[in-house]
Amino acid sequence: MLELQNITVLFHPNSPDEVRALDNLSLSIQPHTFVVVIGSNGSGKSTLLNTLAGSLTPVAGTLRLGGRDITRRPEHRRAALIGRVFQNPFSGTAPHLTVAENLALAVRRGASRGLRPALNARLKASFRERLRDLNLGLEDRLDAEIGTLSGGQRQAITLLMATWQHPELLLLDEHTAALDPRTADQITRLTERIIREERLTALMVTHSMQQAVTLGDRLLMMHRGRLVYDAAGPEKRRLRVEHLHDKFQALRRADLLDPSAATLLHQAYV
Ligand SMILES: Nc1ncnc2c1ncn2[C@@H]1O[C@H](COP(=O)(O)OP(=O)(O)OP(=O)(O)O)[C@@H](O)[C@H]1O
Ligand SMILES: [Mg+2]
Repeated sequence: MLELQNITVLFHPNSPDEVRALDNLSLSIQPHTFVVVIGSNGSGKSTLLNTLAGSLTPVAGTLRLGGRDITRRPEHRRAALIGRVFQNPFSGTAPHLTVAENLALAVRRGASRGLRPALNARLKASFRERLRDLNLGLEDRLDAEIGTLSGGQRQAITLLMATWQHPELLLLDEHTAALDPRTADQITRLTERIIREERLTALMVTHSMQQAVTLGDRLLMMHRGRLVYDAAGPEKRRLRVEHLHDKFQALRRADLLDPSAATLLHQAYV
């Protein structure tokens, strides 16, 4: 179980530019849940994922993963528990290492020094098998430098690396946004398959309303650092793109009003 209790994250605290990027946010996510996160630009989606990963530290609140309090645990000490894929296909892999060498890094992550497997023929054969399974023609590219692959192929490898060790939490921040529509679709299907097959707990940020209604078990909508909509089960399955557009429009209208009226409207519409 992932639990956030009254989490607040500030940028430029105690200055005129203070931004409350997460505002007293509370949220519980059951294991093996695939959560899709939407919200307009600046609503706090990346801040949420960065806080879970430990790249940002909240000024208040508690963060628990699998019963452990990880609120103050530094990012590198969460890495074994958390897999991440970013929007940019260039982050997450070492460009001058080969596909096999990059995958070997992922396999070794979290293993103690003596137990780190060598990149031998057996390990390479297991990589080849896993890559063949992806159906992207990557099984013949094991010795190619990652930098020579297309963005889509890199995201597929990054996804494989992020999930190889079966992380307790997988964080995907608009990881298909920089890809052409066909490739984005391919990576989306691959993402869904890996999450289902490995029964992962995942948070996926997207601006695609289509993805938001078709993917995942639960949908969260953020606005101004808060959760304004949370749907799961039959409610999530019944959602249509138009419903989400209506919610965004209601939020935009509410933002034009004074704060107390906005709060009322949020409650009425969302
Ligand atoms: N490094 C930073 N320094 C100052 N303010 C920041 C920083 N990162 C984010 N913010 C601010 O925090 C708020 C939340 O930003 P965040 O990046 O989490 O939004 P987002 O929902 O991911 O938006 P997008 O859809 O554009 O990616 C915004 O007001 C943003 O300007
Ligand atoms: Mg973002």
